[in-house]
Amino acid sequence: MNFEIIEEVIKNRRSCKPALMNGKIIDNAIISKLLQLADWAPTHAHTEPWRFVVFGGDALKQFSKDHAELYKTNTPAEKFETAKYEKLLHNADNASHIIAVYMKRGANPKITVMEEICAVAAAVQNILLGASCLNLAALWSTGGLTFHPAMKAYLGLNEDDHMLGLLYLGYSDEIIKEGKRIVPLNEKVEWRD
Ligand SMILES: Cc1cc2nc3c(=O)[nH]c(=O)nc-3n(C[C@H](O)[C@H](O)[C@H](O)COP(=O)(O)O)c2cc1C
Repeated sequence: MNFEIIEEVIKNRRSCKPALMNGKIIDNAIISKLLQLADWAPTHAHTEPWRFVVFGGDALKQFSKDHAELYKTNTPAEKFETAKYEKLLHNADNASHIIAVYMKRGANPKITVMEEICAVAAAVQNILLGASCLNLAALWSTGGLTFHPAMKAYLGLNEDDHMLGLLYLGYSDEIIKEGKRIVPLNEKVEWRD
């Protein structure tokens, strides 16, 4: 164990918009490695509620089309924006994969929905940190119809399951921008010694 290594990994992880990705494809074996990291997230009572639907290749193109169509069919005509439709259609053009992440609500009622969502969020962070170590570009997105019931239906989720996001993964030629945190840490921490 080496604190400096994990500190560097955590601090240097940055989000990268899919528009800044370069179209290079990530080997599925690498995606599998990231999912293996996800599987080591903490989990109360071993419910292991993280679930993933991995879209790559033609399935990724189809997902983008379907996402845009879901937006169209679930938006009243007066609110529909062509620009938003086009963005959903083309947002992943230069991404390699999208991983839809959701929480599978299990049968153990003692474990709360909050706990299960927290566990899946930890799994997502494992993926993001692994991706960063492999010089991949990644974005955890909740845009578009991520949280719309239509997305749940499209992905075949049960009513009690919860979407956590769409992870865009790829490569990028962009220089990673400097990270920033706006609220000083000492305003987020109360020490009670
Ligand atoms: C739950 C969650 C949802 C997010 N959704 C979006 C999103 O829809 N679009 C986006 O551009 N970034 C999204 N982000 C990424 C944030 O914009 C990003 O983490 C933030 O700007 C801080 O930058 P950093 O990740 O490089 O530290 C999301 C992050 C989290 C944790």
